[in-house]
Amino acid sequence: MTRRTVRIAMNGVTGRMGYRQHLARSILAIREQGGLELGDGTTLWPEPVLVGRREHAVKAIADRHGLEHWTTDLDAVLADPSVEIYFDAQVTAARAAALRKAIAAGKHLYCEKPTAASLQTALELARSAQDAGIKTGVVQDKIFLPGLRKLKRLIDGGFFGPVLSVRGEFGYWVFEGDWQSAQRPSWNYRAEDGGGITIDMFPHWEYVLHELFGRVTSVQALATTHLPRRWDEHGKPFTATADDAAYGIFQLEGGAVAQINSSWAVRVHRDELVEFQVDGVHGSAVAGLRNCRVQHRGTTPKPVWNPDLPATEPFREQWQDVPDNDGFDNGFKAQWELFLRHVALDEPWRWDLLAGARGVQLAELGLRSSAEGRRLDVPELSL
Ligand SMILES: NC(=O)c1ccc[n+]([C@@H]2O[C@H](COP(=O)([O-])OP(=O)(O)OC[C@H]3O[C@@H](n4cnc5c(N)ncnc54)[C@H](O)[C@@H]3O)[C@@H](O)[C@H]2O)c1
Repeated sequence: MTRRTVRIAMNGVTGRMGYRQHLARSILAIREQGGLELGDGTTLWPEPVLVGRREHAVKAIADRHGLEHWTTDLDAVLADPSVEIYFDAQVTAARAAALRKAIAAGKHLYCEKPTAASLQTALELARSAQDAGIKTGVVQDKIFLPGLRKLKRLIDGGFFGPVLSVRGEFGYWVFEGDWQSAQRPSWNYRAEDGGGITIDMFPHWEYVLHELFGRVTSVQALATTHLPRRWDEHGKPFTATADDAAYGIFQLEGGAVAQINSSWAVRVHRDELVEFQVDGVHGSAVAGLRNCRVQHRGTTPKPVWNPDLPATEPFREQWQDVPDNDGFDNGFKAQWELFLRHVALDEPWRWDLLAGARGVQLAELGLRSSAEGRRLDVPELSL
């Protein structure tokens, strides 16, 4: 067995996603399992080089995990020919400039969504990466989650027959930050810092709908700011300039309609923080992050509307759990492994900067639809 080291500059690892999901649960988890076996007698050994602005914070993470390589100098790490991949999980507003540098330096790149704050920039990045001949990847973690993988299995197995509609409910209460601290960074609530639930969540809905049901062909959305005042990490009040809820209707290629509510100002009366109900002619399913339940046409009850009577049936109990039938790894790690295989072996890969640009496009059109109060077509993108 030969071991091939792949050095990855990881920027934004002091953040929530960069640290927990990408460094600890993906790259370090791959090292803990002994590397990534490529199946050709080679084991790929990811070696992170931590990058960040604040020396003490980056060094603390390196020390905690016994990692030797870290820096506050992004330009220097990009100039290092031994570094093959640049990874970015910085705040959204800082991403495009860093990606431009990485592309110019000829590094393969992998990054969080959204890839940019505007479609124009997202496409410009995708085009310059293509011209530079580098490989690119954008996080699309939700399709690797157990609940959605079970949903995909049902679709592939023909469970639904024709799919009619998809209803998504995402959200939870994000505390304002005064009497209880907020559980999301405050930049999420400032448009000028790249915040907003539409730019945060519509990229996810784009690839979830596209991968499972068909490309989004039109969008009609209402984005709003329910809570206009919040308190930041230092307890200082600020005006929330970004949307904290977005109510969207999406038409899909193939004819299905999806309706997804996204909100940071909703209290959870659901089993999971996101749930999708899919109704097809032959059956329906409700999928969350982990679980998925189904109801077949043959077991569908026949409720009769009569407000004079209490509910006559235990509706929630009339659904059946879809079994795991498989081991499900962390979704972020699963996608990292596929990206590393793509880089090392040139295996097929479709979640690139163009796919990332589709997510930005849907967010941008969603916000425009909301501002203009009308439904907008979503043109197909190409480079
Ligand atoms: N895939 C997902 O499910 C998912 C979930 C949440 C967030 N995200 C994305 O991940 C990215 C990071 O989000 P997060 O919640 O980890 O944010 P965070 O605020 O916790 O972390 C942001 C990181 O960027 C760094 N940074 C660089 N320049 C900065 C600046 N000018 N101001 C502040 N921080 C700066 C911070 O030091 C930190 O390492 C965002 O682009 C977000 O859209 C993805």
